[in-house]
Amino acid sequence: MLSREDNEYLTQTDPGTPMGTFMRRFWTPFMLSKEIAEPDCTPVRVRVLGESLLAFRDSDGRVGLVDEYCPHRRVSLFFGRNEECGLRCVYHGWKFDVDGNCVDLPSEPADSAFKDKISLKAYPVREKAGIVWAFMGPVELMGGLPEQEWMEVPDDHIYQSRWYQESNYAQAVEGEIDSAHVSFLHSKLDNDAPNKAALTGAFFAEDTAPKWKVTESDFGMTLGARRRVDGGRYYWRMNQWLYPFYTMIAPTPGESRTVRMWVPADDGHCNIICITYRNDHAVSEQELHNWSTGAVAHAALIPGTLTPAANSSNNYNIDRDFQRRESFTGIAGVRAQDAAMTESAGAIVDRSLEHLGTSDTAIIKMRRLLTDGARDLEKGVEPLAARDGSLYRIRSDSVIIDEDVDFDEKPDILEGMRVNAHAAE
Ligand code: FES
Ligand SMILES: [Fe+2]
Repeated sequence: MLSREDNEYLTQTDPGTPMGTFMRRFWTPFMLSKEIAEPDCTPVRVRVLGESLLAFRDSDGRVGLVDEYCPHRRVSLFFGRNEECGLRCVYHGWKFDVDGNCVDLPSEPADSAFKDKISLKAYPVREKAGIVWAFMGPVELMGGLPEQEWMEVPDDHIYQSRWYQESNYAQAVEGEIDSAHVSFLHSKLDNDAPNKAALTGAFFAEDTAPKWKVTESDFGMTLGARRRVDGGRYYWRMNQWLYPFYTMIAPTPGESRTVRMWVPADDGHCNIICITYRNDHAVSEQELHNWSTGAVAHAALIPGTLTPAANSSNNYNIDRDFQRRESFTGIAGVRAQDAAMTESAGAIVDRSLEHLGTSDTAIIKMRRLLTDGARDLEKGVEPLAARDGSLYRIRSDSVIIDEDVDFDEKPDILEGMRVNAHAAE
């Protein structure tokens, strides 16, 4: 559990909050390049770390992330005209470029110097692997982008999507790194078993109380969960959590890999960016179909929105008959099952009321790494991972071994999680 004060410290990311200041030391992914694909496209509203912003691509293809509100009389620039390398407010015609400079101020006399005193808040932006990132901290402290494996694969090896969740970022991440729930939440009933409540799901069902081994690193932590399978062998899944909100979930051997970014939109909402990719070959038609329809890894959205079709307003389309006969939850799809749990705790779960067990080891550690990082920064200690993108050259993995040793005692397992070791693959 956390005290109410510590819970607020962890979950609040608006400008000026300690966690918000900490997160602003890192590059923040906030949308997909394909959402603003064309020059002079329609501007898109985005909420990032409690700020209302507007993203647009100018006539030269450059992306701007600016304050949504015009510095003149604070109307929304969403209604603006994106034309000739700038966004023009439709109220009185003031125009701004992607850097926030006021490039035209037609409502004042032509010889007025007023224009030079006006600017719109704008953040440095970069695009990489179909994702748009902003640096929202002090520019003199701007480091490199996190060098993750998926950022280097060819375009036809990767698929990106984004949606919003109605919860704080921290509990959404906690749901993702909580490997213990897989044996329950995502399981099916075994109708052949004498006890109908017995769980299937291969290795997850064989051992529902995995042994945990969590190791800290400069990038964050590796969460190893060991299950006993196959009559005495050991199935290790190593997920990664990377500062400040990335997760890499261990793939089934030979399958695609998933990376999610749980970016605070505001304290009550999370902007989820999801990447699935292969580093061995281009994604297949079937994979693309499964991902783009939200059947696997990604979310099925209400058309024209970033809201999942199965959401709290329809109880995630729970089917009680399906729950009795076949599914542990009666909710279709892993994404909806996860969201049903993490959103049902309320926008910001009251962690002073919880009772954590041994299976919550990773969650406890993640909270501590984040809050320690923010507290260190309050004392003037800058976060290392924000400056050194090469720390992110890591991947998740899963293996089956015969020996009763922890994953971090096996050099070949550690090597398999290092991206450099497989750069030539
Ligand atoms: S409010 Fe935008 S130009 Fe006046
Ligand atoms: Fe899950």
